[in-house]
Amino acid sequence: MAASLLIEDVDAAYGAVRALDGVSLKVATGETVALLGTNGNGKTTLMRCILGLLRPTRGRIIATIDGQTTDLIGRSPEDIVNLGIALVPEGRRLFPRLSVEENLLLGAYRRAARAAIPRNLEFCYDAFPRLKERRAQPVGSMSGGEQQMVALGRAVMCAPKILLVDEPSVGLAPILVARTIEKIAELKEKLGLTVLMAEQNFHQAIRIADRGYVLVHGRVEFQGDSPAALGDSDLVRKFYLGL
Ligand SMILES: Nc1ncnc2c1ncn2[C@@H]1O[C@H](COP(=O)(O)OP(=O)(O)O)[C@@H](O)[C@H]1O
Ligand SMILES: [Mg+2]
Repeated sequence: MAASLLIEDVDAAYGAVRALDGVSLKVATGETVALLGTNGNGKTTLMRCILGLLRPTRGRIIATIDGQTTDLIGRSPEDIVNLGIALVPEGRRLFPRLSVEENLLLGAYRRAARAAIPRNLEFCYDAFPRLKERRAQPVGSMSGGEQQMVALGRAVMCAPKILLVDEPSVGLAPILVARTIEKIAELKEKLGLTVLMAEQNFHQAIRIADRGYVLVHGRVEFQGDSPAALGDSDLVRKFYLGL
């Protein structure tokens, strides 16, 4: 099952604020690619452009999924989700008063996913046993780490081929960050996903990333073809590692 993303020369803006400037990157089938950058450098904006939530002012965003190539620009988020692309948004965006299971089921609105609800729900509960125990609990009463699991589970419920994860570490204690990152790697392996993950937490991101890009003021300033190459970059050393 092939699923890849190709982003070419994308510009995006919020009114007069330029948020992306000629961004090009790719994610090949089965890769986990890190999109690194500190606050306000355009990571979320790129995720929103891929999912059709914000229309780029220039460039192309091409997804190839199971042999079918589609230009995503101009398509609705619903169409894009239906193609098999899911986003775990920054800040999780769950429904706090709804139960774990209700939140998970809300992920399954994709046509193909509806038919597979029992199987995907079972998969979610296998991957996150804690969510099964807490299936009836309102999500708002759960810990940050558990909520991140619900957000990941909700994305899995739409049976994606390409998973976009926006800053999974935000607001979590270090031990939970590590666990969340490991869960993303586990889901990727089990479901055969292609993953693009935005992160500020460089050390955690490179534990599971095959390679990565560093965004600075909306531009790709560095591209590292391996975790080691990223760690060796002067830019990463300066901004992330304080060296
Ligand atoms: N809704 C918005 N309206 C205006 N400017 C925005 C909006 N969202 C983000 N920006 C600006 O776009 C830039 C990139 O933001 P963002 O993509 O959220 O960065 P990151 O996810 O890397 O923290 C920042 O300068 C930010 O202030
Ligand atoms: Mg962001």
